[in-house]
Amino acid sequence: MKMIKLMVLLLLLPTMVWAGGKDDDAVTIANTDSAYPPLNLEQSKHSLKQIKHGEYLLKMGDCFTCHTDEENDGKPFAGGLKIKTDFGTIFVPNITPDKETGIGSWTDEQFVKAVREGIAPNGSYYYPVFPYNYFNKMSQQDVLDIKAYLDAVPAVHQENHEQEMDWPFNYRFLQLGWRLLYFTFEDDVFEPDASKSKAWNRGKFIVEGPGHCALCHTQLNYFGVPKKDYYLAGTFVEGYYAPNIAAQGLKKLSAYQVVDIFRNNEMPTHGELSGPMRGVEHNSLRFLTDEDLFAIATYLKTINSKTPPVELDMKQSFGVDEGEKLYQSSCAMCHDDGLMGAPTLEPEVWSVLLDQGRNKLYEVTIRGNGDMPAKGGCDECSNARLKAAVDYMIDTATGQQSKDP
Ligand code: HEC
Ligand code: HEC
Ligand code: HEC
Repeated sequence: MKMIKLMVLLLLLPTMVWAGGKDDDAVTIANTDSAYPPLNLEQSKHSLKQIKHGEYLLKMGDCFTCHTDEENDGKPFAGGLKIKTDFGTIFVPNITPDKETGIGSWTDEQFVKAVREGIAPNGSYYYPVFPYNYFNKMSQQDVLDIKAYLDAVPAVHQENHEQEMDWPFNYRFLQLGWRLLYFTFEDDVFEPDASKSKAWNRGKFIVEGPGHCALCHTQLNYFGVPKKDYYLAGTFVEGYYAPNIAAQGLKKLSAYQVVDIFRNNEMPTHGELSGPMRGVEHNSLRFLTDEDLFAIATYLKTINSKTPPVELDMKQSFGVDEGEKLYQSSCAMCHDDGLMGAPTLEPEVWSVLLDQGRNKLYEVTIRGNGDMPAKGGCDECSNARLKAAVDYMIDTATGQQSKDP
């Protein structure tokens, strides 16, 4: 009985990936040059063609961003980046060819098993923060090509940090629960659909395979598995909103405009990409060919998903006092005088607004709408705080007291 509870707890783990890192999510990349290291090609036993192919796939997979602690001037692929979860901190390991601290002494089989199946050389299971459940769409040969590239990057002697997962999540064998339910490894290599175009198939491979876009752009269920109905329909990650990139979300953009987002690091409505997408673009997507970027756009524009209800993340809750403070500091400048058509705190205005239900108002506040900026422009505000500000607005406008703090 106790064991089952532990399992259930453990199953929560992947939902929390990315959840905590608010205070250190400022991924600042000072210059626009790529930080990929020069390669040691002389000693390599692999052909240049194989290494190049591996490098290209590695860029699709955004391996650099997670495996390099850029913020602290970490060496390429030497690991050390901290990913905070509600259940402890995960430190990303060194994947340079250093024999003692990296993966220099790993066999090809061990590498393939780690990247495609999430099983370590000692038989233990990796946490699914490492997106192996997407990487299994790549063939064994693809993954070996990635290893051929990694074998040629400079070896860095840097010990891996011990994982600081809280009990009971530090017991890796408990991952078995998650794996049994959601990740039964079969040789899940990508199979093209002959009724669709070449570009569509290529796009699907990148998006569902190495690109692991759903890790950030799809709401995860209670067990940390992307919700099928809401595939790529947008969710929060590290305090940022990763928008809907299914057909609905991209309907105002042509496929070429979507390519431009990746090529020029510029979203049509919000300017430069920020937060976790910054690394994905900067270290990875911008290196893909126009043809591949076009393939991604082509596929995304065919995905029909439902729009998910907004997640309010109500672990914390704030009272109306807190809401008033936030209102005064972040919202009053527009809402007090109706700037740009912002609703003022008049009873008539709010009785109409409230017809759509409070949840809709919270949702618009968090996601933004027209001239109403996402989160009212308060990027670092939690959803719970924003909810309190909306509650304050409703209370003030209607002269009522919110029951729900
Ligand atoms: C979202 C972040 C993320 C991305 C992207 C990512 N990894 Fe990792 N990787 C991790 C984490 C976290 C671990 C450690 C997991 C654990 O300890 O359970 C890991 C572990 C590994 C390991 C095992 C190393 C060891 O010492 O046990 C290898 C090999 C690896 N990754 C290769 C790759 C490759 C190749 C790519 C790109 C195709 C990649 N990773 C992309 C986060 C990531
Ligand atoms: C590590 C998390 C992460 C991953 C992985 C990721 N994204 Fe994103 N993406 C985001 C976030 C966060 C934003 C919003 C950035 C902002 O607001 O500045 C975003 C924005 C975007 C946008 C801009 C949408 C718009 O409406 O302007 C597109 C397009 C996009 N991502 C596509 C992709 C594709 C395709 C992949 C996979 C190849 C991918 N993303 C993988 C987090 C991620
Ligand atoms: C830059 C000006 C601006 C700021 C700052 C701003 N808002 Fe707004 N807000 C607007 C505008 C404009 C609208 C009307 C949007 C529309 O319906 O097109 C709006 C609408 C709303 C609505 C009604 C949603 C609906 O369904 O139309 C709520 C609730 C709201 N804002 C809450 C907030 C909160 C909470 C904050 C502060 C955290 C905030 N706003 C900050 C401009 C702003």
